[in-house]
Amino acid sequence: MQGSRQIAPAAGRLGILLAGLGAVSTTLIAGVHAIRKGLAAPTGSLTQMGTIRLGKRTDGRSPLIRDFVPLAGLDDLVFGGWDIFEDNCYQAACNAEVLRRELLDQVRAELEAVQPWPAVFDQSYVKKLDGPNVKTGASKRDLAEQLRDDIRRFREQQGVERLVLIWCGSTEVYMEEGPAHRSLDAFERALEASDPAIPSSMIYAYAALKEGIPYANAAPNLSADVPALEELALQSGSPLAGKDLKTGQTLMKTMVAPGLKARLLGVSGWYSTNILGNRDGEVLDDPESFKTKEESKKSVLDHILQPELYPTLYDDLHHVVRINYYPPRGDNKEGWDNIDLVGWLDYPMQLKINFLCRDSILAAPIVLDVALFLDLAMRAGMSGIQEWLSFYFKSPIHRRDLYPEHDLFIQLMKLKNTLRHLRGEELITHLGLEYYD
Ligand SMILES: NC(=O)c1ccc[n+]([C@@H]2O[C@H](COP(=O)([O-])OP(=O)(O)OC[C@H]3O[C@@H](n4cnc5c(N)ncnc54)[C@H](O)[C@@H]3O)[C@@H](O)[C@H]2O)c1
Repeated sequence: MQGSRQIAPAAGRLGILLAGLGAVSTTLIAGVHAIRKGLAAPTGSLTQMGTIRLGKRTDGRSPLIRDFVPLAGLDDLVFGGWDIFEDNCYQAACNAEVLRRELLDQVRAELEAVQPWPAVFDQSYVKKLDGPNVKTGASKRDLAEQLRDDIRRFREQQGVERLVLIWCGSTEVYMEEGPAHRSLDAFERALEASDPAIPSSMIYAYAALKEGIPYANAAPNLSADVPALEELALQSGSPLAGKDLKTGQTLMKTMVAPGLKARLLGVSGWYSTNILGNRDGEVLDDPESFKTKEESKKSVLDHILQPELYPTLYDDLHHVVRINYYPPRGDNKEGWDNIDLVGWLDYPMQLKINFLCRDSILAAPIVLDVALFLDLAMRAGMSGIQEWLSFYFKSPIHRRDLYPEHDLFIQLMKLKNTLRHLRGEELITHLGLEYYD
């Protein structure tokens, strides 16, 4: 056994701040209250249901993850957040139409207590959206200071010991890293000058990191994935994670693609299409927001299949991703994948996947896990990029000179080995020769 890392206990309450109180956020908050009341199970959450094997297969030690590492308990969570609409979380959850009214009514008081604070919002970054609950300020730096005031006020009023901030707001337009993002110094000057290179989500990220609290991005927009904010995270000791929750179609892709590659089956085409009708779908109906999502969804196959190592199998792959806004489906997305495979002696085959999923039902448990693990990372003194949380994201933030790991099963192994490492347990390599010696 190696030495375990010092981890401060999860004492007191943990505040989860959500920038954007839409479908995902309200499904998370309602879910946590429903679970606390024993009305439902935390299905889909690794922190609540997952186990971790320790030692040899013959040892019979597989505790629950939440008994193995000190995580905040659901009873200790307090929620707050911002939105451009004034609806409280009960109204917002009713509008989102993800959860049944009968369940929402049983946690109505708790949801009504979460009233969104005015948001930092600029329509030039989310074209299809506009709302009244928005801050005004002399500059983007001033807006960041207002967010910091909200955070401090919440900390004081709720008596929370620790905080985490997660962007669950709409997908912003596609942006690339530019000079304003390259150093903290340049970023702060750009904030002062209200430079268009700083979208709203970056202002939230900056405010969180400046307050020394962990930040994650559930959406695909650039947000904290820039050198300036990585620098700030290291400076303020805050853990960082993102981007774009891995749910639905991409989750399936990162399960199936590693299997095809493992058997050295070629892929000549992968056509993915979706219909969805929630507000997220409406926002993605704008080509600039869609481009942000498309880039995030498309990158996974290249990294998993490694065409540079297997040119004959994957070099000519045609990968197409479409999302169509179709209101009758609401949050209940339907995805179709057609995969054109190539087998022995180049014989073609096809695989079809039709996934009738529920976006926010898949997303809520992973926002919970990300929040609890970021809080753990903070207490364990881990700052900056948390690559071990790649498991949860379509476009995992990673050190610039490393390629990201997209294979869901490698990501899970990395996550569990990080937990073993934190507790000084032996890492599991799955070698297994020792059982036969
Ligand atoms: N549900 C999933 O499976 C999933 C998966 C990956 C990523 N995401 C991303 O997570 C985000 C949230 O998804 P959702 O389904 O809850 O969307 P949603 O449209 O229901 O909620 C987003 C909320 O953010 C608010 N908002 C927008 N800009 C804001 C700002 N600047 N400040 C504060 N609030 C702001 C909107 O008013 C809205 O209420 C989206 O960007 C989506 O692309 C979702």
